[in-house]
Amino acid sequence: MSVNPVDTHDLRRAFGSFATGVTIVTTLDKQGEPCGFTANSFSSVSLDPPLVLVSVAKSAFGLSIFTESKSFAINILAENQRELSNRFASRGTDKFSGVGRQPGVTGAPLLDDVVAWFDCENYQQVEAGDHVILIGKVVNYSYNADSPLGFCRGAYVSFGLSPIMLELVTSSGHLQVGALIENEDKILLQVGPGGDLKIPIAPSVGDRGQPDSLLGLLDAAGIHVELPFLFAAYNGLDKRYIYYRGELLSIRDVIQTEQLHFYGYDEIPWSAILSETDKSMIKRFYKEREVDNFGVYIGDFEAGDIHPLPK
Ligand SMILES: Cc1cc2nc3c(=O)[nH]c(=O)nc-3n(C[C@H](O)[C@H](O)[C@H](O)COP(=O)(O)O)c2cc1C
Repeated sequence: MSVNPVDTHDLRRAFGSFATGVTIVTTLDKQGEPCGFTANSFSSVSLDPPLVLVSVAKSAFGLSIFTESKSFAINILAENQRELSNRFASRGTDKFSGVGRQPGVTGAPLLDDVVAWFDCENYQQVEAGDHVILIGKVVNYSYNADSPLGFCRGAYVSFGLSPIMLELVTSSGHLQVGALIENEDKILLQVGPGGDLKIPIAPSVGDRGQPDSLLGLLDAAGIHVELPFLFAAYNGLDKRYIYYRGELLSIRDVIQTEQLHFYGYDEIPWSAILSETDKSMIKRFYKEREVDNFGVYIGDFEAGDIHPLPK
């Protein structure tokens, strides 16, 4: 079956179902200046000879630098290197400023604190549609046991969160579960008794029949969601908080409750949101969507000011 005409936006979303790691591909230009970009199209190809590949968009600023270079390095990012990923996904020329690195045997920059790197000779190039596939022969490599950064459905994911989730769920202390839910560019906020606003939150995820649970609260307003993505997890003073990014499945035409309202970003009465953490999470949420709109490969998930959990 052929997909014609191709809805590239939709196809990109479908491709995004495949969870990947995140790499920064680096090389030196003819003047010896470092050049690099974020890529999740990395794949191992062959053990003997040792080959890897990455595809670079023909629209990339660095395309000719990479196709003309004799070598490149693949740096596989650690989960705390989201900022680096965002920096190298931009078109800036000064991406390497302040970034610790060593030259590999090929000369390509190997970035500090990555979970693995592969220093490669440029082995073969294959033109493929709007990308060029760079196939590299690995001449040197290194790896460690740190947790890698993941990427799926346009968002960074952290493999390291599983033990944290386990600790959250199994440890004593009150749990609060919240969700960031969007409908037609608007975000759902819960109205408190004094008119204050917060991200909808409840003591458990529960289910639709349980009024004091998150899904119950939403169900009462005719809002049916899935909670497929973890958005934040942190310890408060006396409670532990888990926030999901919700996917809206259906919504009744008229919201039946005074408790929940959708707000466009420009309409949010920020002074009514008493929690600084809620404010920063909403800002983060919108920032992520912004990249979704702009990026060819979508996603932006910054750590923000969420407190890290103890390991
Ligand atoms: C997670 C993620 C994965 C990406 N993967 C690729 C990729 O595999 N190939 C590619 O050409 N661009 C990819 N991009 C986009 C480039 O990083 C981005 O277009 C960058 O601006 C290219 O740099 P340049 O234009 O300065 O060469 C990705 C971006 C992100 C955030």
